[in-house]
Amino acid sequence: MCGIVGYIGNRQAAPLLLAGLEKLEYRGYDSAGIAVLENGAVEVVKCKGRLSALAERLGKTDFGSTLGIGHTRWATHGEPNDLNSHPHISRSGKIAVVHNGIIENYIELKRFLIARGYSFISETDTEVIAHLIEYHYKGDLRKAVTAAMTDIEGSYALGVICSEQNDMFVAARKDSPLIAGIGGNEYFIASDIPAILEHTRDIYILEDKEIAVISRSGAEIFDIYGGKVVKEVFRVNWDIDAAEKSGYEHFMIKEICEEPKVVRDTISPRIRGGDISLDGTGITAESIREIDKIFIVACGTAYHAGVIGKYVIEKLARIPVETELASEFRYRDPMVGPKTLVIVISQSGETLDTMMALKESKRRGARVLSIVNVVGSSIARESDNVLYTQAGPEIAVASTKAYNAQLSAIYLIALKLAQLKGTVSGENFRNIVDNLLALPKAIEKVLGNRSDVQKYASLHYNAKSIFFIGRGLDYALSMEGSLKLKEISYIHSEAYAGGELKHGTIALIEEGTLVVCPMTQLGLREKMTGNIREVKARGAVVLAVVPESCALAEGLADHIVRIPDIDPLVAPVVAATVMQLFAYYVAVLKGCDVDKPRNLAKSVTVE
Ligand code: G6P
Repeated sequence: MCGIVGYIGNRQAAPLLLAGLEKLEYRGYDSAGIAVLENGAVEVVKCKGRLSALAERLGKTDFGSTLGIGHTRWATHGEPNDLNSHPHISRSGKIAVVHNGIIENYIELKRFLIARGYSFISETDTEVIAHLIEYHYKGDLRKAVTAAMTDIEGSYALGVICSEQNDMFVAARKDSPLIAGIGGNEYFIASDIPAILEHTRDIYILEDKEIAVISRSGAEIFDIYGGKVVKEVFRVNWDIDAAEKSGYEHFMIKEICEEPKVVRDTISPRIRGGDISLDGTGITAESIREIDKIFIVACGTAYHAGVIGKYVIEKLARIPVETELASEFRYRDPMVGPKTLVIVISQSGETLDTMMALKESKRRGARVLSIVNVVGSSIARESDNVLYTQAGPEIAVASTKAYNAQLSAIYLIALKLAQLKGTVSGENFRNIVDNLLALPKAIEKVLGNRSDVQKYASLHYNAKSIFFIGRGLDYALSMEGSLKLKEISYIHSEAYAGGELKHGTIALIEEGTLVVCPMTQLGLREKMTGNIREVKARGAVVLAVVPESCALAEGLADHIVRIPDIDPLVAPVVAATVMQLFAYYVAVLKGCDVDKPRNLAKSVTVE
């Protein structure tokens, strides 16, 4: 969701800004623009559409400027068009602003500014910020931005340039991510690391309500009261390659192929001498004695990982778990208190709904443990404890490897809780640990046989509607399989519990409708065969995902994808890869923009 970059140094700013924005494309956007300071004046170039359209417009200019800001916009207030694109400029044209987030009191501020002679040309909330900064500007840009911040309610990451300030620009944040990059003699701001990693590995991670003054000689950080903040430099330890396609056709397939490594990197370092070590997560014998309930709160794919978490934690550790969508949790007066452990799950660590649910949980006295992928992200920093998934940068909008890594982290937590509570036998504990360690190999095998999945995708990529049904953990997995397919192929899809379909939705099954049926759960597989017969009797074509040694789908399902035999408890991690591959191949065959699906954003920083 909206990407911000900013540059000051001795190189030409415009091409650097454009290249930085390209690295943020994954966040999702529908228009883009830049502003540079050219001969003492703010020059803006912006337009609707992809960055290629912006590049074309920039090609007609010849800005020598070495200072500028850039933006990719994911529309919230006003449709994606040239006018609503960022940067927005103030009345006099002196100040230009890029913004990620939402200004909640923008109507009130707009009224205030209109009464003082300001007029508005766009439908955005951001234009208010440009005028407001100008209203407060008395020659000191930092002070003007700070004053505007005290008027603004909502979330923002801001980049601000001013025609009177040729040697500096200002950035600020609240509830939206922003980093400052420290190069040799050039300085950057960006919404995320990939945008600047080519130029520097040294960054400052801005905290809420901090203001950065980025000048030709350095980056200085201030708090909202004007005090200087001494910050530690964070050194990025991953390579630019991790954020490149490295010969794969899409980021999504590259990231699916990284799953064996990601799962291994998340699990192996935590298993020592057959035991699980969750140092730093706050899960100790004493802390869990005080817990009588767990909430798992997340959005999208991370929520689906949480649904699996409910099954697994309740089964192993016998602690009641409620998994809830962050956007619902926050507003329904949840029964959360000091005896609740709240586990929030987020790949980006920046999802606003999840962040707000976290804050609400803390306000109610709960301890918050987050499962997060991005080191130093807002959610990681706000949580009491963090268990990092080791997925590396995930660029494709549709989450894949991060999901498998989130599941891996959940199994570790569930098993540790069970061990500490004494609800799992030593033998069962060792068996599950062995199965967790066997996951990477099993996923490798699935990847090795991916042409099978591709074959079935080629038979169904024109489908109007595809259903996913499963029981137990397979139901939770079906939700994610269905979401993945919807996100990138735009095929209508629904996930249902195997036993629930007949209570209504079976009415939608007609001749030729594809129903995907994971059957990884021992004890529930026979029941699934009954559900498969029900849909087949209505003309459905069934694609079953079954362990190698299971013969139940034979002669029943139309297509069968085999996964290696593994303990059913952890089987969803392996079957997830099949679901992701299926969605991927369907979308590729349909000619969809797999890595950047329409209307979606990778990091959703609005409610
Ligand atoms: C967005 C993305 C989804 C993601 C969800 C939660 O909607 O498009 O792919 O699952 O946010 O993101 P998070 O970063 O919190 O895991």
